[in-house]
Amino acid sequence: MVPIVCVTLKEYQKAKSVFDSCKELKFIPADLQEHLLAETIKSHKASAVVLGVDQYKDELYTALPKGGIILRFGVGHDGVDKKKATEAGLFVTNTPGALDDSVAEHAILLMGSLARQIPQHYSNMRSSQWQPSLGYELRGKNLLVIGCGKIGSKVASIASFGFGMKVIGYDTQPLNHKEASRFGFAQLIESLDEGIKQADFISLHIPSIPATRKFVSLKFLQMMKSSAYIINTSRGPIVDENALYDIISSGKIAGAGIDVFENEPYVPINTLKDLRNLPNVVLTPHVGSSTIEACDRMAECVIKNLVAHFQKNREQMDIVNKEILKVIK
Ligand code: GLV
Repeated sequence: MVPIVCVTLKEYQKAKSVFDSCKELKFIPADLQEHLLAETIKSHKASAVVLGVDQYKDELYTALPKGGIILRFGVGHDGVDKKKATEAGLFVTNTPGALDDSVAEHAILLMGSLARQIPQHYSNMRSSQWQPSLGYELRGKNLLVIGCGKIGSKVASIASFGFGMKVIGYDTQPLNHKEASRFGFAQLIESLDEGIKQADFISLHIPSIPATRKFVSLKFLQMMKSSAYIINTSRGPIVDENALYDIISSGKIAGAGIDVFENEPYVPINTLKDLRNLPNVVLTPHVGSSTIEACDRMAECVIKNLVAHFQKNREQMDIVNKEILKVIK
């Protein structure tokens, strides 16, 4: 019998043709709300579920049988409780590499939109106002990439080789300087403060874990140049949104390009500090990885993980809760 896999409707629609053309598995679209998703899993006796970026805290982990699998359609797995999953005997996988180009391109495009004020020009044109103003070139500007993994390295390559920016890298993990220079990093730094002070643009590429919560704090933002911009395409909780609002509205930094938020869909943490009211902020609704190409690749990677899972071919799986291997073979 073909295994049944529940997939949240949003993710199913993003790569319907890939899911539908898979003969080895049957994908059932389901509501993304946890209790409804858990109902669908139980009613189909499914042992596998594919999830988006949403947070899952309760019923999901008991709805799946021991030995089941939770597959992130994407990379960041902060929405999945790995401890609970492991305790329930569930594998958790993601799709590394599948969305690097999309997210990196989105970060660069946010940067370009800010430098050339494209959203303001567009909105002026739409209201019949002809208001040319001066922007900045990216060429020669300092870009600080925080988090030099695959996505951060792609950003570095495009910025350096495409736009001639000087890219500085910072990571808490040890980095190979020779390797980094191949990706266009001009310099890797150990002092984050120095990097922040030099940067004209800062792009964030770190995961959301307890240690990175409000990584971009008021103190961080106060160190930035008043002409600098910050771009976040990783996760909302790594930036203190209220501090970001304060620093931009008081003109202490030039602006921000933000794709990810503490609350998604976006609801300001403090209604008086609504980022949507700031003209020099470009906002997008968590679409960094939302391209046709990346979604197809993510679905293909989900299928690869599922096939390997049902064949118990653990080496071929992108398991993020490795401890599960001590419990289940
Ligand atoms: C998207 O943000 C992802 O982590 O997959």
